[in-house]
Amino acid sequence: MCGIIGYIGNKEAFPILINGLKRLEYRGYDSSGVALLQNNESIIYKKKGKVSDLENFIADSDVSGNIGIGHTRWATHGEPNDVNAHPHTSLNGHFTLIHNGIIENYGRLKDVLVSVGYTFKGETDTEVLVNLIEYIYMRGNVNAELAVHYALAKVIGAYGLVVLCKNEPDQLIAARKGSPLVIGIGEGEHFIASDATPIVEHTNSVIYLNNDNVAIIKKNELTLKTTDNDELTPNIQKLNLGIGEIEKNGYAHFMLKEIFEQPRSIKDTCRGRISLEEKSIRLGGLHAVMPKLIDAKRIIIVGCGTSWHAGLVGEYLIEDFARIPVEVEYSSEFRYRKPVLNDTDVVIAISQSGETADTLAAIELARSAGATVIGISNVVGSSIPRETNAGVYTHAGPEIGVASTKAFTTQITVLSMIAIELGMKRGTLTPKESNGLMEELILIPEKLERIIKMNDSFEKIAALYKNANNFLYLGRGYFFPVALEGALKLKEISYIHAEGYPAAEMKHGPIALIDENMPVVVIAAKDNSYEKIVSNIQEIKARKGIVIAIVTEGDTVIREMADHVLEIPKADFALAPILAVVPLQLLSYHIAVMRGCNIDQPRNLAKSVTVE
Ligand code: F6R
Repeated sequence: MCGIIGYIGNKEAFPILINGLKRLEYRGYDSSGVALLQNNESIIYKKKGKVSDLENFIADSDVSGNIGIGHTRWATHGEPNDVNAHPHTSLNGHFTLIHNGIIENYGRLKDVLVSVGYTFKGETDTEVLVNLIEYIYMRGNVNAELAVHYALAKVIGAYGLVVLCKNEPDQLIAARKGSPLVIGIGEGEHFIASDATPIVEHTNSVIYLNNDNVAIIKKNELTLKTTDNDELTPNIQKLNLGIGEIEKNGYAHFMLKEIFEQPRSIKDTCRGRISLEEKSIRLGGLHAVMPKLIDAKRIIIVGCGTSWHAGLVGEYLIEDFARIPVEVEYSSEFRYRKPVLNDTDVVIAISQSGETADTLAAIELARSAGATVIGISNVVGSSIPRETNAGVYTHAGPEIGVASTKAFTTQITVLSMIAIELGMKRGTLTPKESNGLMEELILIPEKLERIIKMNDSFEKIAALYKNANNFLYLGRGYFFPVALEGALKLKEISYIHAEGYPAAEMKHGPIALIDENMPVVVIAAKDNSYEKIVSNIQEIKARKGIVIAIVTEGDTVIREMADHVLEIPKADFALAPILAVVPLQLLSYHIAVMRGCNIDQPRNLAKSVTVE
C-alpha cells in the first residue's frame, strides 16, 4: 500500500527521500513522487512505475532543498499514472500533500470546490483534500495549521498525511486517522514516515502518532495536538529495529532471506515464553485476559489471507488442546454480516502488519459487541495492538517480501503456545501431554534448519514444473490449511493458478481436473489420517496425476507411489504445519524465480492492505 516519507532539517532532503522511497517499495505501489521546497516554491516530480523510473526522470533536475516529502502510491481512486501520483499540489500552489488512506466523502467535497471555481487535473481523493485545505486557508484567512485542522473536520475517511505550505516553509504538518505515521527525532532534524523502515538508518528515537493526532514538525521543534487543537505530550520511544533486518544481507530476495530466517524467528517468538523447568508457558500480553480466555464459551479468529490460514491452524490447535469451540472468519466477511457476539466470546485478530483495514474493522465490531479482543501481530506500535484489549507479538522481525512466510510460521507458533497454555489451565491436556508439546515446540527451529538445508531438492522439482499452468494442493486435518497456504504462495508470486483443498473433497469436484499435466502437491506427513491420504494419492495416480508428496522422513509407503517426495523431520502432527509449509514456500519461490517474476513485489499486491 501507499508509503510516506518526509524530512526537515539541515541536510539535503532529496537523498533521504529517495532512499526512503526505496525502503518503502516493499509495501507495493505503482507510482512515486517527491516534493521539495526551494525558494519558497514547492517543486514536484512524480512518475508512474518504480522509484528507479522516478530517479531517472529527475536525473538532471535541481533537487536541492532541506525540506521535502515523498510518496509511493498504490492506486485506489484513479488509474496509476503520472497525474494521479502523489504529491498533489493545490490550484494556487500554496499547499502540497501526500496522503495514505481514503477520503470517503471526496465526491461531495469536490462538488463544493468545483462550485467555487476549483478545477482538477486527476481523479484522486487526495487532490480534493489539498484543494480543500487551500480553499479554507485563503477564504478563512487562517494559517496553514488551522486550515489543516478545519479541513480535516470536514473529512470522512482514513488518512495518514503530510502537508507542505510554501508560505510557511519552516514546517511540515502531519495528521493521522486510521493510517499509521511515525516521526523520527534526529539532531536538529525530523523525519516522518508511514512505518519505521525508512527512519531506522537515521535515528532510533520515534513517536508513533495516534488516531486524531496532528503534528507540527519543525527542524528543532515538534508540537503534537489532537484534531481539536488540544496540545499533547509526545511519547518518545526507542525503535527496536536494526538496519540489517531491513536489508537483504546477501540473499537474492527478501522472501528467500525470510524463509531462511524461520528457525531464528521461531526461537525469538518462543524466547522467554516457554519454560521447560517450570513446565509453563507465559504470554505476558495475555495475562490480564487469561480468565476470560479460560472461561470463553467460544473463540472467533479473524484475519485475511495468510493470517486467516494461520487462524485455521489455530482452530485445530485450540479445539484439540483446550476444547473450546473455535470459528475462523475472514475479517472482511465478519465485519459486514451480523455476527452473534456476546461478552463470553473472545475474538483473536491475526495480522502480520497490524494495519489490515478489514481486520481493524472486525476488531471494532467485536469490541462494540462486548467481546474480549486479542491481537496477534508482528509490528510493534501498529494499529491492531493498539486497538485490542491484549495481545501477543510474533517477533518474526520485519517481513519485507510481500508474500508472507515467517509471519505465518510465527503466528502458528503463538497460537500453539496459546492453545497449550489454555489446555494446561483448563485441565484438558495432561501434564505429560503439555510437557511433550512444549519440548516439541522448542525443537522446531532445529528441524526447520534441516529442511532449509534441502533447498536444492526443492529447486530441482521447481525446474520440472515451472511451466505448469495449474497446481492442486491437498491436505487433511492440520495440513489442510497448509495446502491452502501453499497454493496461495504459488499463485501470488509465480502467477500460476493453484487451488488448495481438503484431500477428501477432491472426489467432490477437483478430481475432474486431474490428468498427466496436473501437478498435485499432497501434504502427507504422518498424522491420524495418514492411511486416508495414502488412498487419496492412489486416486490421483490412477488418473495419471503427478504427485509431489511432503512426507515424514523415513516414509517408504508414499515413496513407492509418488513421483517426488520431500521429507520433513518427525514431529507431533499438531506442530508439523510449521515444518510442512517450508518446502511449499521454497517450491513457490524457485518456480517464481525461474519464471522471471518479481519475487518481493508481485504484481498488484501490497504488503499491508490498509484499504477495503
Ligand atoms: C499472502 C499475504 C497476504 C496477507 C494478508 C493479511 O502472502 O501476505 O495474504 O497475509 O493481506 O495481511 P496481515 O497479516 O498484515 O493482516
